[in-house]
Amino acid sequence: MSITLPGPTLGVVGGGQLGRMLAEAAAPLGVEVIVLDPTPECPASAVARDQIVAAFDDPDGIRALAARADALTFEIELADPDVLAAASADHGVPVHPDPDTLETIQDKLVQTEALADAGIPVPEFAAVATVEGVQRLVEEFGGVMLKAREGGYDGRGNVPVHDPSAAADALAAVGTDAMAERFVDFERELAVMGLKGADGDTRTYPVTETIHREEILRESVTPARADDEVIARAEAVASDVLELLDGRGVYGIEMFETTDGDVMVNEIAPRPHNSGHWTIEGARTSQFENHVRAVLGWPLGPTTLAAPAATANLLGDVAETRPATLRGVESVLAAPAADLHWYGKADARPLRKMGHLTVTAPDGDDPDALVSQARELRDGTTFTDE
Ligand SMILES: Nc1ncnc2c1ncn2[C@@H]1O[C@H](COP(=O)(O)OP(=O)(O)O)[C@@H](O)[C@H]1O
Ligand SMILES: [Mg+2]
Repeated sequence: MSITLPGPTLGVVGGGQLGRMLAEAAAPLGVEVIVLDPTPECPASAVARDQIVAAFDDPDGIRALAARADALTFEIELADPDVLAAASADHGVPVHPDPDTLETIQDKLVQTEALADAGIPVPEFAAVATVEGVQRLVEEFGGVMLKAREGGYDGRGNVPVHDPSAAADALAAVGTDAMAERFVDFERELAVMGLKGADGDTRTYPVTETIHREEILRESVTPARADDEVIARAEAVASDVLELLDGRGVYGIEMFETTDGDVMVNEIAPRPHNSGHWTIEGARTSQFENHVRAVLGWPLGPTTLAAPAATANLLGDVAETRPATLRGVESVLAAPAADLHWYGKADARPLRKMGHLTVTAPDGDDPDALVSQARELRDGTTFTDE
């Protein structure tokens, strides 16, 4: 393949922080990004060439995006697979990952069934639509995570149920289009960013450990603090998952390490992922740059570790929505090995992802110390007035 610069234009459905970091990574490659997002001045708009203001599934908007792009991708699961496929066909513009992959992943039940059918280990699960159904599964599994099949994120749409008496409230919160999974008593959560390029070039990044509270990712550390055998198992499971997925791009594969040292897949994202943000400073090539390269069918960059890294999310620590002002940034800037990422969201909302910071240890620092440092820097900032 002969590649010339300036490069092609990438059309991205979704213009949140992932679109913003994609555009940041695309610029040095000579690739311009146009995003489609319903929110005027969305986070990505400040760094993209242009924004089309339209709903994620708006056929006219997606067609307008395809008309101006040389390749299409998406950074949000709310993109519509049929609309994407139609626009791609009409304009002769490739779309990656494959819209069929997006369709499978959009529905957590269909996704988990596809994984189970392929022999990939997942927690026991079942579709559920009634209070009695939830109660039966709580008794059978000894506790479940009740999940909305579609549209959940950052813990929204997920409710843990440990007692049958809590089933009715949980189902009311999640909705009847739900699934229940055995509540996994995990040792830790792991994530692998996987990458599929042209000509069967498939790679994985080093295994990341992710730390959630209230179902929301708070910190990550790479390499994960797990035994070598667990790491090897996670890598093998990630490779099996990648084989199952059609289309080029980066995929976030979330996993549980059980107390017995088994690895099970929690869920997959067909896009760059929060648990891969460490790759911006910690890997030779970031997940965002490699997503751009993969979607365009360009040679991939190495996914190797450049430096052990810990990240901490800057979440809205506010009681209610208010204009976003982050205080305490000076200590992050003054730290010798910390990098700041501000997502450019106008409003802080409770637990909304507003940015993140990454601490790297070029000399291979102790992972516990890295996590503590990332937390300390994060905890020195606030969106409140104090
Ligand atoms: N079956 C489960 N058992 C225990 N914890 C779970 C289970 N499923 C999800 N969780 C917890 O909730 C978090 C979010 O769940 P997930 O299904 O990944 O939803 P989201 O789409 O919000 O990322 C997980 O990272 C994990 O901490
Ligand atoms: Mg998740």
